[in-house]
Amino acid sequence: PRPILLTRHGESQDNVRGRIGGDPALSEAGERYAKKLGEFVNRRLKSERTASIWTSTLQRTILTARQIAGFPKVQWRALDEINAGVCEGMTYEEIKINMPEEYKARKLDKLRYRYPRGESYLDVIQRLEPVIIELERQRAPVVVISHQAVLRALYAYFADKPLQEIPHLEVPLHTIIEIQMGVTGVQEKRYKLMD
Ligand code: G3H
Repeated sequence: PRPILLTRHGESQDNVRGRIGGDPALSEAGERYAKKLGEFVNRRLKSERTASIWTSTLQRTILTARQIAGFPKVQWRALDEINAGVCEGMTYEEIKINMPEEYKARKLDKLRYRYPRGESYLDVIQRLEPVIIELERQRAPVVVISHQAVLRALYAYFADKPLQEIPHLEVPLHTIIEIQMGVTGVQEKRYKLMD
């Protein structure tokens, strides 16, 4: 059976500052993760004739893929992080203080809440449909390097989690979730490469 490896980008400079959205580069820890991920994936896929590496169009995922060698890399806009609209670049604390109604509305229904001029989780789930169709069609391993909200939705699809749980699923940084699709169902392994 072919594996699908899901991972978030390495820690970004905005993760460190607690800011959402944007197109930041990696922090030092994020760079370390890129190196470890490269070593892990290069070893894991050594005997594979073909495989592909999918990232979003944001530089934190492209930089995280940089040390993976020997297989084609594909950038998908559909793998970009949830668009936080007018809240891009803010911290959750700033949203709470400056836009308390928005903050409250999101807390009440995180799945359906749509950022002003941005997206909701439901929007993200919908735009992932072509990615999922393409993933299902692949015969070779795929490494998907994306973002928290997007990976919650992708993971939920393979792990068969209910819609309502998606915005709250645990998808930690610096951890690979390996999904094996076999005839008997889906198996999962997690590799925490660093803290
Ligand atoms: O910047 C976006 C985060 O990765 C998504 O986190 O939906 O839990 O706010 P959240």
